[in-house]
Amino acid sequence: MKKIGIFWGSSTDNTTTATEFMKEYLEMNDHQVDIHNIADTDVDKILEYDNIIIGCPTWHIGELQEDWDSVFSDFEELDFSGKTGAFFGCGDQVGYPANFLDAIGMLAEPFMKNGGSLIGKCSRDNYQFTGSRALDKDDKLLGLGLDYDNDDEETCEDFMVMWLEEIIDDFKD
Ligand SMILES: Cc1cc2nc3c(=O)[nH]c(=O)nc-3n(C[C@H](O)[C@H](O)[C@H](O)COP(=O)(O)O)c2cc1C
Repeated sequence: MKKIGIFWGSSTDNTTTATEFMKEYLEMNDHQVDIHNIADTDVDKILEYDNIIIGCPTWHIGELQEDWDSVFSDFEELDFSGKTGAFFGCGDQVGYPANFLDAIGMLAEPFMKNGGSLIGKCSRDNYQFTGSRALDKDDKLLGLGLDYDNDDEETCEDFMVMWLEEIIDDFKD
């Protein structure tokens, strides 16, 4: 059994739907999961977990979702040494192809810079977009992208299951 904290923000509830699905799936597989909406959570709370999942949609053409935006200056000061983190985000690859999932990159970069160990990178092959701040130097996405605007809910759930199965062993017991 692993203990995982999921921290998410959401403006139109897609990321909430994804967070609740992940919690249910992980709990079905006997893991302990606490979920915290960053809108009403102290950002320091993240450091209470060794295994962290962070979810943030991209809004307003390459911006963080507003609740993450409000805590970002504190988030980027946290010391993530010893923490294992996986990132996901909701976005719209058709409507915003040059900024798809930018928020994943904006949160994953300080996490890695401040000592965190990032897991759960994804191939860009499953998506169609032209640019993203979430791409690393090897052209891999720094986290899982979910596109509720263009994919149906079942497809998003399949993506989440595949990703969770891939990352779960890398979280600490
Ligand atoms: C005004 C507006 C701007 C957006 N900007 C982006 C963007 O830059 N990149 C992206 O990938 N998605 C963008 N989106 C799509 C949202 O990220 C997407 O709808 C997401 O599922 C919303 O998540 P939420 O319901 O959890 O807030 C934008 C949507 C709107 C309405």
